[in-house]
Amino acid sequence: MEVLSLTAHSAAETEEYGRTIGSLLKPGSFVALQGDLGGGKTCFTRGVVAAVAPESAHLVASPTYAIMNCYGGNVPVYHFDFYRLTGDDDVIELGFEEYFYGAGVSVVEWSERLTELLPEDHLTISFEYTGEDQRLITVSGSGNESTTIMLRLGEKLNNVKKALT
Ligand SMILES: Nc1ncnc2c1ncn2[C@@H]1O[C@H](COP(=O)(O)OP(=O)(O)OP(=O)(O)O)[C@@H](O)[C@H]1O
Ligand SMILES: [Mg+2]
Repeated sequence: MEVLSLTAHSAAETEEYGRTIGSLLKPGSFVALQGDLGGGKTCFTRGVVAAVAPESAHLVASPTYAIMNCYGGNVPVYHFDFYRLTGDDDVIELGFEEYFYGAGVSVVEWSERLTELLPEDHLTISFEYTGEDQRLITVSGSGNESTTIMLRLGEKLNNVKKALT
């Protein structure tokens, strides 16, 4: 499986990666965010929303207490935070299918908490704290749709690199 490793040197750069990946997503895409507390998952989500539902990007905040925030747009973004999740039952109660398999984009913080309910086709994005302002972001894809998105992301990042050299 192809894995892309990205280094972000600031919160703004992490948000920019969110925007880049967000611009490649399709209605129904599922983005599983994992990793350290304060790793930048919410920050990254702000970038995704800026690309997918720009009119709502200013609303992005941690939904830790609400479990889910919905950001309206042409394609809506369902932003979940499963930090407090104790088991799949909480997710079932939420009526997750409507979101995970709906026409919007799902972005899930603490997706590690999901077991059986993780959709087969998904992007996994892991955040590692590597310095006060530095994060290592690792992206991989599972399933046809997400593998295609990974290929496009690789091309896009290569083009950015070329433009800078
Ligand atoms: N390179 C970076 N990328 C992302 N955030 C950074 C970076 N450098 C510093 N930060 C800071 O780290 C914090 C990241 O917070 P954020 O809420 O996005 O993390 P999180 O992964 O969602 O945490 P939680 O697990 O609590 O939900 C912010 O205060 C941000 O300003
Ligand atoms: Mg968060």
